[in-house]
This record gives sequence, C-alpha cells and structure tokens, in this order.
Amino acid sequence: MIQRWSRKKTPLPLLTLTFLVLIVCSVFYNESSLRVFNPDQTPPLRHRPKITYVEPNRDPTSERGVLDRFSRCNSTKEYSGRSTRSGGSGGEGGGGPGRRDSGSHECDVTSGKWVLDNVTYPLYEESECPYMSDQLACHKHGRADIGYQHWRWQPHRCDLLRWSTSEMWEKLRNKRLMFVGDSLNRGQWISMLCLLQSAAAKDKRSITPNAPLTIFRAEKYNATVEFLWAPLLVESNSDDPVNHRLEERIIRPDSIRTHALKWEQADILVFNTYLWWRQSPVKLLWSDDEEGECEELDGMDAMELAMETWADWVMTRLDPSKRVFFVTMSPTHQLSEEWKPGSKGNCYGETEPIKSESHWGSGSDLPTMRMVERVLGRLGSRVSAINITQLSEYRKDGHPSIYRKFWEALRPEQLADPSSFSDCIHWCLPGVQDIWNQLLFHFL
Ligand SMILES: *[C@@H]1O[C@H](CO)[C@@H](O)[C@H](O)[C@H]1NC(C)=O
Ligand SMILES: *[C@@H]1O[C@H](CO)[C@@H](O)[C@H](O)[C@H]1NC(C)=O
Ligand SMILES: *[C@@H]1O[C@H](CO)[C@@H](O)[C@H](O)[C@H]1NC(C)=O
Ligand SMILES: *[C@@H]1O[C@H](CO)[C@@H](O)[C@H](O)[C@H]1NC(C)=O
Repeated sequence: MIQRWSRKKTPLPLLTLTFLVLIVCSVFYNESSLRVFNPDQTPPLRHRPKITYVEPNRDPTSERGVLDRFSRCNSTKEYSGRSTRSGGSGGEGGGGPGRRDSGSHECDVTSGKWVLDNVTYPLYEESECPYMSDQLACHKHGRADIGYQHWRWQPHRCDLLRWSTSEMWEKLRNKRLMFVGDSLNRGQWISMLCLLQSAAAKDKRSITPNAPLTIFRAEKYNATVEFLWAPLLVESNSDDPVNHRLEERIIRPDSIRTHALKWEQADILVFNTYLWWRQSPVKLLWSDDEEGECEELDGMDAMELAMETWADWVMTRLDPSKRVFFVTMSPTHQLSEEWKPGSKGNCYGETEPIKSESHWGSGSDLPTMRMVERVLGRLGSRVSAINITQLSEYRKDGHPSIYRKFWEALRPEQLADPSSFSDCIHWCLPGVQDIWNQLLFHFL
C-alpha cells in the first residue's frame, strides 16, 4: 500500500484559494498511506530509554522559530528519553478510566447497536448543506445505496438525547465552539455546520476562511463554530491546512503554544488526533535545540509525548470554566478479511454495518487507546472523552470509498480496481459523524 501511494508524491496543483477548496482539500493520501499493523506487536514505549522530564515550552514570546513545511532536520539521532510529563509512571489522579465518557449520565451511551430508521435519519439532506465537502458528499459523487444515511445509534440501556437544532443553538448561545485536529475532526465540524445551519437565518451567518482557523458565525445566536487545523496537536511541519503532504514528519513535542493561542478563547473545545501518528517514524525537534538536530521515535510513542504536552497545557493553562472534549480514534476499514474472513477487499462495496457485537478492527490500536485513557485519566473530569471508536467500528458501510472527489487524476490501473483507491478513512455525510455530534450534544 505504501508503494502504491508513494508514487504520487508530487505537490498538489495550485488550488484556488476559495473557502470551499480550503475545507475540502484532501489529506486523504497522507492518512491512507498509513501502514496497517498488528496492535499486539507494538507495545508503546518498548524501546524507550529512561524518561527525563523537560519543562514544556509555554512561552508564547519565545524566539524559537516556528516549524513550517520547509523545516528540515540537520541530523537525526535516537530518542533521548525526554518528556514533558513530570514524575514517573502511575499515580493517576481523578479516578479510574471509563468514568468520564458519559459525563453525568449513568448509562454508557457508547455501548449499543445501529438500528435502521429512515424516518428520523438523515437529520439533514446532503444537497441542502452549503458547507458540505466534496470529500464527504458521497451521494453527489455517485453513491446510489443511501442506506448509510438512515442508521440511528441505539444504546443498549438508555436513549441518546434526540438531536434538536434549536436546543443545540441554545447551548451555544454567546459561545465559541472550536474543533481542533485533523481531517476526521474537520468532518465532524462540517457535520456540525450541516446540522446547525438550517436554523441560522441565511443573511445572518457567515464563514471566515482564515486558514488554518475557519470560523462559522451565526449572528442570531452570537455564536461561532470553528475548526482549527492541528493534526498532531503540538507544533509540526504539517500545520499548513493545505500543503502538508510531506515526506518527513517533524514535531516540537514540547510546544503547543502557537495552536493554543488560537484556541484558548474558545468556550467549548473538541480535540482529536490519531491517524497521523500511524505513519512512523516521527522526528522530534525540541524547542531548546539550536542546531536542528532531531530525534527519531515511533509514531505512537511520539503521540504520547504530544498528548502529555497537550494535557499539561489543559491542566496549567486552560481556564477551568471551559469545556474540553477529546474524540477517540476514528476506525478505518481497510481490510475486509477482518469482517469477512478470506476476502481481500476493504470498505468498497459495503452497504451495511457489521452486526457482530464488539467487532474491533486492526485500525484501532489498543495500546494507543490505553495510553489515551491514561492521559485523560490524569486529567480527571477536566476532559470528557467522546468515545466514538466502538460504535464507528461497526460502520464499514459509512466511508466514501470511491464516491468522493479525488484530488489527483486516477490512473487506469486504479480505475480498473476500485478498492485500490477507496477512501475507507473519512465518513460520508450525512452519516456516522452526525452521531458523534449527537453524542457531543448529549454530553453538553
Ligand atoms: C423506510 O423503510 C421501510 C422498510 O424498509 C420502507 O417500507 C419505507 O418505504 C421506507 N421509507 C422511506 C421514506 O424510504
Ligand atoms: C457575544 O458573545 C461574547 C462571548 O463569546 C460575549 O462576550 C458578548 O457579550 C456577547 N454579545 C452579546 C450582544 O450578547
Ligand atoms: C540547520 O542548520 C542551519 C545552518 O546552521 C540553520 O540555519 C538551520 O536553522 C538549522 N535547521 C534547524 C531546523 O534548526
Ligand atoms: C472507549 O471505548 C472502548 C470500548 O468500547 C474502550 O475499550 C476504551 O477504553 C474507551 N476509551 C476511552 C478513552 O474511554
């Protein structure tokens, strides 16, 4: 798979800088060239040296150059064992894992099943949402089976709050809601815009394409719904919302301040990060490094460093009145053998959810999930997990596959084998991500 995609490492043709192009610009190939690996063979931190604590670089006035897509490592050495996490392991504060994900609600709304409901769903029409992305508008791009739009998530022991656009607006009145993360999170943001826009008077709403921060403003409610591109949470050379398809991934593991300056005024923050870390290795360029000497680390271990820096920022910097959510890993459906033994395809051609209870694919790395749990566990009630992983695992039918806009011309040999270029990462809208937002609505 890596080889197939690596032939396409040519820069995107210059895109016109309209907002639409901006939001739909694809990170598809970055995220689908991620190797599939067996979670059991990659325990985190196996090769890590002894951890030494470094102070996170919190100073927004620091002189240190910001990473951009032209940054290069002058040399690369092994990981030295630095982390922004103080203290050793253990000592988790704030109660055990699992207690955060349902907020004050007792029932676990993430345990349930998909039920066909063509009366209530979809919650909006694809063609009626002006903010729809060509990456996610599957029906428009030729998908004829639209069953994927009609599934309702039914928790086993309770009901999810019924979505109400007007109630959601009331929850957002005089507030800034900001999604921060990668293209999966951007999909959830677009879903939210589509869910909300019908109730915002047409002439009293506007969208500001202020890349990398895009702001949807509804005057009627004095509210904004925003998206900040920050696929690795910490500073990285992939922070350009359009041009981030790079050979080498460089992060500043101890620095999140350039992003934090953009999000610290928001009232409700919804973070995600995951898929980008699956492309190993990651180069680390610590803030105090003068010579451009990078360290190299496995992607999942690097994600832990970034999560620690993010957690430090949430704990020490964020106004406690702000609500913070973290969306867990978005599953991929790259290997149909995982639900159809013996088959060789992926999500292409799938029209129904997986029925087998607790199906879990190799795209959702369990050691990473445990790491996320540990980090969120230490943050206690400060951050609520929106645990979308299990419910989305069932939705092999929910991805665009070939029914989306592709940004580069497809070659004849690809066209001859549709599963070879299928997008089994992002999600068609209306669809699965509307339910993620319904969970957010439920917890708010
Ligand atoms: C909804 O599904 C039922 C049962 O499959 C079908 O009879 C009905 O025609 C569908 N309604 C719509 C509006 O698609
Ligand atoms: C609009 O919301 C902001 C907070 O986001 C608040 O400071 C301001 O007072 C609000 N304006 C009105 C007219 O309510
Ligand atoms: C690499 O070295 C050059 C020359 O010393 C320097 O200008 C550059 O900033 C270094 N790169 C990084 C990423 O620090
Ligand atoms: C999310 O749910 C899965 C099971 O559905 C569980 O294994 C995992 O620990 C949960 N993650 C978090 C961060 O709560």
